[in-house]
Amino acid sequence: MSPFLLTRTLPEDATDADLRADVLHGLTCTPKVLPPKWFYDARGSELFDEITLLPEYYPTRAEREILIARAPEIAAATHARTLVELGSGSSDKTRHLLDALSGLHSYVPVDVSESALSAAAASLLDERPGLSVHALIADFTRGLALPGTPGPRLVAFLGGTLGNLLPDERAVFLKSVRSLLAPGDALLLGTDLVKDEATLVAAYDDAQGVTAAFNKNVLSVIDRELDADFDPDDFDHVAVWNRENEWIEMRLRARSALTVKVRELDLVVSFEAGEEIRTEVSAKFRRDGVRAELAEAGMELRQWWTDGEERFALSLSVAV
Ligand code: AVJ
Repeated sequence: MSPFLLTRTLPEDATDADLRADVLHGLTCTPKVLPPKWFYDARGSELFDEITLLPEYYPTRAEREILIARAPEIAAATHARTLVELGSGSSDKTRHLLDALSGLHSYVPVDVSESALSAAAASLLDERPGLSVHALIADFTRGLALPGTPGPRLVAFLGGTLGNLLPDERAVFLKSVRSLLAPGDALLLGTDLVKDEATLVAAYDDAQGVTAAFNKNVLSVIDRELDADFDPDDFDHVAVWNRENEWIEMRLRARSALTVKVRELDLVVSFEAGEEIRTEVSAKFRRDGVRAELAEAGMELRQWWTDGEERFALSLSVAV
């Protein structure tokens, strides 16, 4: 019998209030902006899973390669009894860790997508009877209350999702992660690395248009949740490499001048032809930068592993 708990740390109406606040702010400021967390309704989570299988989208495969190679070292270094995974999504890559962590008692997946959490937990419970799974529907950037499962704790933040936060937000977030760690606990962090522009842009603008559909899905989320009348076909998907900041930006560009009603917000939003909404920043990293950001948050980088082509890195850090 494996115990399974699904806890909503934010009430459903708080999520709703967050979406309203983000959309109201983001579509009335200049330039327009929407936070990437609203991509991930059931459809968006499916589309993201499709992205991870695209030939152009290397991060998932590169990270899996590192996890497979290093899981035994991670297990030996941490002796984790609780694995907390922030932004767990389908928990697909996590299986490699779960298999290596022989003394594991509890798995705590944390994600904003309830559909992704339930599906992941269901298949995990089938495969690993005896593992206690305590799923949290939560926005991990908002400070977390973790269940009282046994230590040592390994907090994993995989996929390169740290890159979705802006530098200031990363500093706040890493401090909140630090506050989850007791002596002997560790952070396993996945970071995509700076590389040539063509590879990066292709990863965020694939030939099949899956990333375009994923990007436009945020408009369907707003249509459904806030009774808006965005037509996703009125927008083009744009992916650009921002060289100064070393991040990829995804944007949605209005094909013509248009207005959109967001009835739940009593809001009418005007777009000029060619006007863009920035929907995602995906920062790419270098080792020294990651080390410095971790140090600033009170953590010390102990291991740095990359895939064979040095596209992606996994790092293991401890609290200091
Ligand atoms: C899940 C946030 C790591 O930034 O690469 C994939 C999301 N966006 N393609 C990323 C994403 C466009 C992804 N993360």
